[in-house]
Amino acid sequence: MAEPRLRTALDGIPSYKAGQRPPEHPGRRSYKLSSNENHHEPLPEILAAIEAALPQIHRYPDYASTALVDAIAVRFDVPAEQVAVGTGSVGMLQQLFQVTCGPGDGVVFGWRSFEAYPIMAQIVGATAQRVDLDADDRHDLDAMALAIDETTRLVLVCNPNNPTGTAVDEEQLAGFIERVPSDVLIVLDEAYCEFVDPDRVPDGLRWQRQHGNVAVLRTFSKAHGLAALRVGFCIASEPVADALRKVQVPFGVSTLAQAAGIAALHNEGALMERVHAIREQRDVLDARLRDLGLHPAQSQANFLWLRLGQQSGAFAAACQEAGLSVRPFEGEGVRITIGEPEANAALLEVAAAWLAADPR
Ligand SMILES: Cc1ncc(COP(=O)(O)O)c(C=O)c1O
Repeated sequence: MAEPRLRTALDGIPSYKAGQRPPEHPGRRSYKLSSNENHHEPLPEILAAIEAALPQIHRYPDYASTALVDAIAVRFDVPAEQVAVGTGSVGMLQQLFQVTCGPGDGVVFGWRSFEAYPIMAQIVGATAQRVDLDADDRHDLDAMALAIDETTRLVLVCNPNNPTGTAVDEEQLAGFIERVPSDVLIVLDEAYCEFVDPDRVPDGLRWQRQHGNVAVLRTFSKAHGLAALRVGFCIASEPVADALRKVQVPFGVSTLAQAAGIAALHNEGALMERVHAIREQRDVLDARLRDLGLHPAQSQANFLWLRLGQQSGAFAAACQEAGLSVRPFEGEGVRITIGEPEANAALLEVAAAWLAADPR
């Protein structure tokens, strides 16, 4: 029997690889350090908001996520018309591709970066215009500006970058934005922006306020700890935000996600204390790994990147053996999410033992 005909554009799309779970060993705790999640359990205030929304789950959610959009608008001091919400920032990203790119259009992004970018480009039939990171695993904004041609419709700057954690600074970003044609949309993917040192990393919203072709992508999944609820948002010029709403999955953001997002914004003080603790843990782990002789990239996120090249798989396997799942990128490096203090200590032990065995 003939198979249904599917779009050939989908041929060869690698399926998205989610972070692995750690192996369960009886009597031993294991830790998932492979998905850049927030290891802190939800705040009681957020759980209470979700519980209060539960009796409404037989009804469709508010289509426009009005209360959540308003809360975001107030929090970031932007008009509500400029806010679009979606099913995680990855859902928003898909919408951003849909509103900018068709077959043959170009998308410029650094590489390696968030692995959803090339997949989404391929889904819409766009051409991925990848630009290698520089020797310090940072976006090479000069090269990215040069890669833009008449086909380019979308430019993605992941800041800080997943999986390297590196960030571009204010001056570099300002110069870059000036060089991008004003009819090309620049998306600043700031999924990890709460973890940065604000003196060193620009706040994309400042640039969004000045440039109609800049959109800022944020999420409640990381610093706010709502990864399972799937809610993210984009702040963009009104025409771009309007377009994003046109292609949204109807009722995609659930009532529970809307309630939890609002509660997260109301409790940001407590959430940011946890973020601060994660940042401190990151810096300690970074320093200890350096003491051992390893060289993580300069991270501004809730994870560290070790460029271990061909040893990446072996290092990840050693971690897995010790009950820690990390995220290897074969032949390139390993991304390690900052976890519980005990998890970070266990990671250091694995790294020390691995180096002592001198695998290189
Ligand atoms: C850079 C970046 N952007 C976007 C996302 C998507 O996050 P979410 O869909 O949970 O908001 C991720 C998730 O890992 C990410 O690393």
